[in-house]
Amino acid sequence: MLILDGKVASQSVKENLTEATRQLKEQGKRPPHLAAILIGNNGASETYVASKVKFCAEIGFTSTLIRLDDTTEEKELLAKIEELNTDDRVDGILVQLPLPKHISEANIINSIDPDKDVDGFHPVSVGRLVQGLDTFIPATPYGIMLMLEHFQLTTKGKHAVVIGRSNIVGRPMSILLSSNIPFGNCTVTICHSHTPDLRQMTLQADIIIAALGKPEFVKADMVKPGAIVIDVGITRVDDATATRGYRIKGDVDFKAVSSVASAVSPVPGGVGLMTIAGLMKNTLSAYERRNQ
Ligand SMILES: NC(=O)c1ccc[n+]([C@@H]2O[C@H](COP(=O)([O-])OP(=O)(O)OC[C@H]3O[C@@H](n4cnc5c(N)ncnc54)[C@H](OP(=O)(O)O)[C@@H]3O)[C@@H](O)[C@H]2O)c1
Repeated sequence: MLILDGKVASQSVKENLTEATRQLKEQGKRPPHLAAILIGNNGASETYVASKVKFCAEIGFTSTLIRLDDTTEEKELLAKIEELNTDDRVDGILVQLPLPKHISEANIINSIDPDKDVDGFHPVSVGRLVQGLDTFIPATPYGIMLMLEHFQLTTKGKHAVVIGRSNIVGRPMSILLSSNIPFGNCTVTICHSHTPDLRQMTLQADIIIAALGKPEFVKADMVKPGAIVIDVGITRVDDATATRGYRIKGDVDFKAVSSVASAVSPVPGGVGLMTIAGLMKNTLSAYERRNQ
């Protein structure tokens, strides 16, 4: 059984990005610049943003972290985004989700300049993705495509079952896997909470993408022997024996599924790291487009 190690796969992306940045600096150009907005003190969001800022530093990108109080009003956040939209020194903008309840996620996503939409959530980016045009691919599905590429996994002609239909993971993932692109060309079934017999679906899958947010939901008896299983889930589960009082769990019962599948991605150490790699590749693309 092959472990789809995100550390290994993201390291090769990291080396390419570091080299690209080195070359830009050698030519006397400024490095790509990612601006991240973090609202409030959500523990998981803090961790995600910190990892993104750290990755930027490691590859030589500039990053700016803008912290706003969770009482920030929507119009103040919109004004901050407009400031970044018009700042020529900023290439990519990300607003860490989820947002406090009083702020409309759709209004915020729609306000980001599509040319700086490195999270790939803007309707323009999504529309371009659906039409197979050059675009910013949402970072997690992009990271999964990079993982498939790194491990040279065959997808053409395979049946992929995607569990989850969110705008940030499941739906764009289903579009990519069904597209006529390298590491696409699958026949895709997309499942959600109204799918009546999920197990009957997953047992037909050559590739399972689990993105539902339910710890260890995918069990060995749901997996066809030899299938590839990619675990997107990240849930903090209380555990008094853990140093932080919780453990991170994926959507797949890794140990049990490993005895049936041909390849499984671990959590942590899998898709999460690839997501950051995808985000940084988008930031470099934004920089290149804006400086062409
Ligand atoms: N690794 C990473 O970098 C990364 C990035 C993003 C998200 N995540 C993690 O990935 C997971 C999913 O995130 P998300 O934002 O896509 O979540 P989400 O918006 O809550 O969507 C979950 C999806 O799963 C479906 N679902 C829920 N329970 C189900 C069940 N019992 N059977 C079948 N489908 C079910 C839901 O169906 P309905 O549409 O019918 O409600 C929904 O489409 C979370 O654990 C999240 O933390 C990880």
